[in-house]
Amino acid sequence: MDLGLAGATAVVTGGTKGMGLATAEVLAGEGASVAVLARDRAGLDQTVDRLRAIGSPDPVGLSVDVTDAGQIERAFAELSERWPCLNSLVNTVGPMDGTFENLTDEDWDTAFSLGTMSAVRCIRGALPLLRRAPWARIVNIGAHSIKRQSPRLVAYTAAKAALTSISKNLARSLGPEGILVNTVSPGTIVTASFSSTLRPLFEAEGLDPTDPHDVMRWIESNFNHPVDLGRAGLPDEVASIVVYLASKRNGYVTGANVNVDGGSDFN
Ligand SMILES: NC(=O)c1ccc[n+]([C@@H]2O[C@H](COP(=O)([O-])OP(=O)(O)OC[C@H]3O[C@@H](n4cnc5c(N)ncnc54)[C@H](OP(=O)(O)O)[C@@H]3O)[C@@H](O)[C@H]2O)c1
Repeated sequence: MDLGLAGATAVVTGGTKGMGLATAEVLAGEGASVAVLARDRAGLDQTVDRLRAIGSPDPVGLSVDVTDAGQIERAFAELSERWPCLNSLVNTVGPMDGTFENLTDEDWDTAFSLGTMSAVRCIRGALPLLRRAPWARIVNIGAHSIKRQSPRLVAYTAAKAALTSISKNLARSLGPEGILVNTVSPGTIVTASFSSTLRPLFEAEGLDPTDPHDVMRWIESNFNHPVDLGRAGLPDEVASIVVYLASKRNGYVTGANVNVDGGSDFN
């Protein structure tokens, strides 16, 4: 299936690791020029080399902290000098977690700054460029936890729920301009950061945090959230859906919240 991404331009926030990197790689493989936004310069340089090797004609890595409005504004100003328009914006950066009693006001502000406002600011920065494109798509990464609540993810989930609501709202306001906006809500996905954060807890139970079946065993015993496929997901299984929604080929899906969760009772 031709996704119509050859020669297109795309921005992926958090594009140097995990699902963001997987998304940037699929976009690059389809022939899109990809800009990745993240903080670490070395990670950005490594990613740009990788995207070029995969086939992206004009990859770029911009060092941006997405909690900083000024840095986001400057990044999109730089991109508008580089590219005539932007076809696809994918926002993947998300916040940390915690239980209600453990979170301070500052933690809540950080959760919303990373989980909601980072995307709001990137969309604001990108809109002039998106409006110049013959077709344009926005995809925001939400989280399945907005449908399957966990006390350990209270601020995280609230920030993702807000982002999902904003996506739906923008789908309505931007639809008449031909800009399609969707959310993709991953279930449990085995990313390097997921595995390294949880390694001590897994090892205490004799489990491997990089093994999708072990990860689901741990999720089931600690969160009571089983899935039909009996395993956790992989970053490229999320990236495939994200890239379809971010492509020209997606002509009629907007305002949707698509679960990529291995099967649950939630829609
Ligand atoms: N993994 C899961 O099971 C799961 C499930 C549901 C939803 N999600 C959501 O999916 C998204 C991707 O998760 P992931 O596990 O793939 O992420 P990840 O592997 O931890 O990667 C995070 C990316 O974001 C960048 N980043 C972090 N803070 C940033 C900041 N302040 N400014 C700019 N860039 C920043 C990181 O680069 P730098 O560190 O260099 O900045 C990196 O490129 C997140 O929104 C997460 O909440 C994850």
